[in-house]
Amino acid sequence: MTTPDRYTWTQIALHWLIAALVLFEIFFERFAQAGEHAMRGSSLLNPVLVTNPHFLVGLLILVLTLWRVVLRFMRGAPAAPAEEPTIFQWAAKLAHLAFYLLLFATPITGLLRLAIRSRIIGELHEWAKPAFLILIAIHVVAVLVHQFLWKTNVFGRMIGRA
Ligand code: HEM
Ligand code: HEM
Repeated sequence: MTTPDRYTWTQIALHWLIAALVLFEIFFERFAQAGEHAMRGSSLLNPVLVTNPHFLVGLLILVLTLWRVVLRFMRGAPAAPAEEPTIFQWAAKLAHLAFYLLLFATPITGLLRLAIRSRIIGELHEWAKPAFLILIAIHVVAVLVHQFLWKTNVFGRMIGRA
């Protein structure tokens, strides 16, 4: 993997698009309930799978995340700013990895929940909301610390201005 000095516009667009779609999934859960109700007792081949907003957006997140990870492997990402203490550089890597794992695991547990209706899988899927909210909070605080305490312009990197 290479270490470029900036994110590409595609990487930036994917970051913000996926972030917006995740927030939609978390704050408009009622679509999920309607979809679950409409698919009850039927197979996954039901057209509701790709017409219900929760399912459609969830599947889109899965596809976009796959694209994003392929790009990440092919092109890499800029290195952490040298001023950032090593322990925080590792913490950032860990938090980003956790995001990627959640972005894959959540749509997959959602699909499994519809396909096999297991209680454990249902509960795992419900954990996605607090897990995303905690990670997003840490992520935003970390960006603020970078911006205002360490004065490293990581926010600029994610809007194409660094
Ligand atoms: C990153 C993507 C996703 C996020 C963040 C997400 C998040 C959520 C949240 C917060 C709930 C409400 C928890 C609950 O009341 O059970 C929920 C419910 C649900 N989700 Fe997802 N979801 C995603 C993708 C999917 C996908 C791709 C599917 C299936 C195709 C799916 C199927 C369901 C089902 C069946 C429910 C239960 C609805 C009910 O309460 O009866 N989700 N999801
Ligand atoms: C659901 C919401 C979000 C998700 C899933 C998410 C996920 C991620 C991930 C996985 C990375 C690492 C990119 C890489 O592979 O190198 C990243 C970087 C970044 N995110 Fe987010 N993010 C979200 C929301 C936000 C928000 C609200 C902000 C605004 C403060 C933000 C600002 C940034 C910045 C500035 C970087 C670049 C960090 C760097 O260059 O090291 N993100 N985000």
